[in-house]
Amino acid sequence: MNTLLNDANTPGGMVEDTAEIIKIRGGRPLSGRVEVKGAKNLVTKAMVAALLGETASVLHDVPDISDVAVVRSLLEVHGVRVDEVEGEEGTLRLDPSGVESAHMEEIDAHAGASRIPILFCGPLLHRLGQAFIPDLGGCRIGDRPIDFHLDALRKFGAVVEKQPNGIRLSAPQGLRGANIHLPYPSVGATEQVLLTAVRAKGVTELKNAAIEPEIMDLIAVLQKMGAIISYEPNRVILIEGVDALRGYDHRAIFDRNEAASWACAALATDGDIFVGGAKQQEMLTFLNVVRKVGGEFDIHEDGIRFRRGGALRPVSVETDVHPGFMTDWQQPLIVALTQAHGESIVHETVYENRFGFTDALVKMGANIVVHPHGLQDGPRRVPRRNLEQAATITGPTPLHGADIVVPDLRGGYSHVIAALTAEGESTISNIGIISRGYEKFLSKLQLLGADFDIVG
Ligand code: UD1
Repeated sequence: MNTLLNDANTPGGMVEDTAEIIKIRGGRPLSGRVEVKGAKNLVTKAMVAALLGETASVLHDVPDISDVAVVRSLLEVHGVRVDEVEGEEGTLRLDPSGVESAHMEEIDAHAGASRIPILFCGPLLHRLGQAFIPDLGGCRIGDRPIDFHLDALRKFGAVVEKQPNGIRLSAPQGLRGANIHLPYPSVGATEQVLLTAVRAKGVTELKNAAIEPEIMDLIAVLQKMGAIISYEPNRVILIEGVDALRGYDHRAIFDRNEAASWACAALATDGDIFVGGAKQQEMLTFLNVVRKVGGEFDIHEDGIRFRRGGALRPVSVETDVHPGFMTDWQQPLIVALTQAHGESIVHETVYENRFGFTDALVKMGANIVVHPHGLQDGPRRVPRRNLEQAATITGPTPLHGADIVVPDLRGGYSHVIAALTAEGESTISNIGIISRGYEKFLSKLQLLGADFDIVG
């Protein structure tokens, strides 16, 4: 994948995408147009699904991000041929006809910092009868356990053996359909069940499933491959296992997390950003919050334009599973809320520890208080597991430059946007992590008029 970005639309030429440290001079609104491609949270899973086919799959709108590179190399060590389709930027052809087992060390070396490898379990068990999954990375937010995944795999008949550097799975009797009730509508565990059940013998009933748009898009991919999957009311998914699947040809759903991030950047910096590729339907909940906070948006056929409609107002939001307000949206929103007039409240209910990034915002002058045990504000829409962390943000506060080390993907994005909102100079290090989820991040910033230099 590219390491040097040469975007024809980029004023001033090229920006190194491999930068780790940038110096930002803030206080300038971000304005212009950026394009979002396929969703990281679908593309990486659709790539894994290609393992299940007997013929090659073609996936369009694949972003050039490091999570895609990790999945690509993991597929390659298992014998899947992955090629860019010539003349079509962002299109991958994935040919699983030479699938073979890989050595533990090889898998380990390619697993990177992503959590996606856990989703290789079902497809590899079907294809090879065994799988090795290295210890998982991913953003350090809460514990991010994999117990739902392993419980579900055992129900399908997999034998799970924990080893010092990962887990080894086998399916001596093959995999059978199962009745699975998730303790929480986990996105990853739902995908695990889908990717395993489509080729298991018999019917699988999944209760309390996640129903995020990216999951619906994965179901569409699997249906194209020959799977039989129906979605019933109340988070129930039924999968009738089939004996064989073929390749798919699919254009990935757009990345609503990236779209929301640029929207918040427009609100925070008092800019005006057209997010090409963003669509209204999948962003209804986010758009409601933009409206409540005093933002304006215009829906176009090819994207959505975001800007302030006047002074920003405080809001109270609670992160939730779909169709609620997504947990990945709260970090960039909080940067915008530092500029709203009054006290905003954000409750994080999906992860137990996702406000660590606010320390850096406070260092930059924001007035944010994290309440580790939450605030008493009445009953919640979805019952949950003692995850009651809340943050109160009181604004508007002028932000000033600071030296920040980026902790994770969404937190890191927010730090960069905060630095662009702030007066003065900031040095932001470890920004490479942002490339896990944001394609051509620095080129896009440059395109929007951000004032920064790469220093390392
Ligand atoms: C996916 C998304 C991520 C998003 C999240 C929630 C990808 C690559 N990432 O992550 O951007 O923030 O959904 O929408 O698609 N849990 C357990 N046990 C498990 C699995 C999960 O307790 O076995 C808990 C997690 O700790 C967390 C909650 O369930 O508190 C939700 O996690 P989950 O929906 O699984 O998130 P991911 O699939 O990892």
